[in-house]
Amino acid sequence: MKSILFVCLGNICRSPAAEGVVRARLPGLVLDSAGTGGWHVGDPPYGPMQAAASMRGYDLSQLRARQFGPADFDAFDLIFAMDAANLRDIEAQRPAGNTTPVENFAALADAQEVPDPYYTRDFEGCLDLIEACADALSCRFDAQRQ
Ligand code: 4NP
Repeated sequence: MKSILFVCLGNICRSPAAEGVVRARLPGLVLDSAGTGGWHVGDPPYGPMQAAASMRGYDLSQLRARQFGPADFDAFDLIFAMDAANLRDIEAQRPAGNTTPVENFAALADAQEVPDPYYTRDFEGCLDLIEACADALSCRFDAQRQ
């Protein structure tokens, strides 16, 4: 497994945070993030999300939002969605014949979804869950290597 794409709605809160946290735990992978919506294309991650991440040592400042598209299915080995709506919106764009796995990121930590802190304002809880998911992903890759 070499390349992973993280997808949320706006690509300014959850998926850039997931990208940054996983990059810190699993160096050497090709990582990116995208949003199913296009409202924030070109924007850096949301200020409060960047600030909360920065307090934990994750620098998200260089990331810029982009919109998810069908070409991403062929460009990545694995795609993680942050919630069920993201998962549906991603699957609706799957090209014929493509078999790239699309997984619910939160399921790595036995959760239903990564709640959107843009609306809940719970940036710490979001990072807690993303860190738990990233730890589980790291364990999965360790197990696959053995
Ligand atoms: P995200 O949060 O999907 O975690 O990046 C959102 C940020 C902004 C909007 C939606 C979700 N928005 O509609 O502007």
